[in-house]
Amino acid sequence: MDAFVIRGGTPLHGNIAIAGSKNAALPIMAAALLTDDPLDLLDVAELADIGNMRRLLHALGCDATAHDGALRLHVTDTSTSAAKYDIVRTMRASICTLGPMLARRGEARVSLPGGCAIGVRPVDLHLKGMEALGARLSLDSGDIVATTPPGGRLIGATVFLGGAYGPTVLGTANVMSAATLARGRTIIESAACEPEIVDLAAVLNAMGARITGAGSPRITIDGVERLHGARHRVMADRIEAGTYIMAGAIAGGSLTISNCPVDCLMAATTTLAEAGVTIRAEPGADPLRTTVTVSRSGPIRPTHVTTQPHPGFPTDLQAQLMALLTLAEGNSSITERIFPDRFMHVAELARMGADLMRHGSTVLVSGVKRLVGAPVMASDLRASASLVLAGLAASGQTIVRRVYHLDRGYERMEDRLNAVGAHIERVDERSLPLMD
Ligand code: EPZ
Repeated sequence: MDAFVIRGGTPLHGNIAIAGSKNAALPIMAAALLTDDPLDLLDVAELADIGNMRRLLHALGCDATAHDGALRLHVTDTSTSAAKYDIVRTMRASICTLGPMLARRGEARVSLPGGCAIGVRPVDLHLKGMEALGARLSLDSGDIVATTPPGGRLIGATVFLGGAYGPTVLGTANVMSAATLARGRTIIESAACEPEIVDLAAVLNAMGARITGAGSPRITIDGVERLHGARHRVMADRIEAGTYIMAGAIAGGSLTISNCPVDCLMAATTTLAEAGVTIRAEPGADPLRTTVTVSRSGPIRPTHVTTQPHPGFPTDLQAQLMALLTLAEGNSSITERIFPDRFMHVAELARMGADLMRHGSTVLVSGVKRLVGAPVMASDLRASASLVLAGLAASGQTIVRRVYHLDRGYERMEDRLNAVGAHIERVDERSLPLMD
């Protein structure tokens, strides 16, 4: 297992280009199961999760090859429709193969995803959506077994997909994808409004689907007989962009972020402006692929944030914001409404001198003058990013162990940050002294 050895305290100067969105690419890759034609995708990032999805799709008879600068996904064998536990347990997003496989092949077997560091991660809303479309569901030794109704085709329906914690992103992706081949009209009420859903709907429509309302809480899908291939450039990763914007904010200096979907980050950029961070977007550029400049002339100011479904402040930037606010001049609060237990980074940040007090789903952040480098442990993707950001600002050396969590969602983060002035070395954990 790898670790990062970070020497903190240097400001960042230069440009970081944002890669294609992990959370857009994963359901879009699963959509390849909806057609026998090739689906060509551009800007698919080189990430562990993307590699896992390629492995899963291969096991489901969909091969991924490089073709004319794109990742070409092409179903060549529909004989197996079982997504095995060994892949699903490593990546919850495997669940988004359920809808496409069921809609195209009439049957699907997907292992129930386990929980993870940020929470239980149920899939009840996914199953509710599939049942609304007429699917017959059963559980068999940890697998969801789904079949289409007699006649072999899903049936369009109106379904309320909201849960106790708001809409479900991958649940919306699953039902929207499955409904493209259903007979008749499907309306998803309380659909997720995330930009990744908009990107998925754009690909599905390019494949011949008839979807309106993506990006709003009500999505309408009129089923068609079949879908054909398409070529699509995956949207830029708004969470990666937000992470690097906060890296620039916490380390100081002047960082530019190119291919930045600043239009999808309004809640985050507004919060950062309240915290004293200046984010200047290139005028007149594509708001989904802009170059922004990040700088801070004064102290980090405290603020109060609650994570919400899009367009609210994204839960996937909560840990990174907390790292920044540990150095604010005053007291902040962060309330997590999507995954109330998403605080694995709190104890680790405290090891670096942060002053944090958790009360249920809220953490009170009392600003401190400085963070001090320490050995810390990554636990989930965004908590890992939070620890790297803290290490950039901390005095001395920070060792972040188990950075495989980071590699799930960030392409070679150490190279990207070192190119703009950071000092991060990737080492084999076995070369390090045992943690105290
Ligand atoms: C997606 O996960 C993202 N992952 C997550 O990003 C992100 O944190 C999450 O959406 C929320 O924005 C991908 O897109 C691959 P949800 P998803 O279903 O779809 C509850 C990252 O760091 N819920 O929107 O799995 C759930 O427990 C990852 O890149 C149910 O109750 O999340 C949560 O409280 C982490 N029943 C809330 O809804 C269900 O059937 C939102 O979850 C499904 C979800």
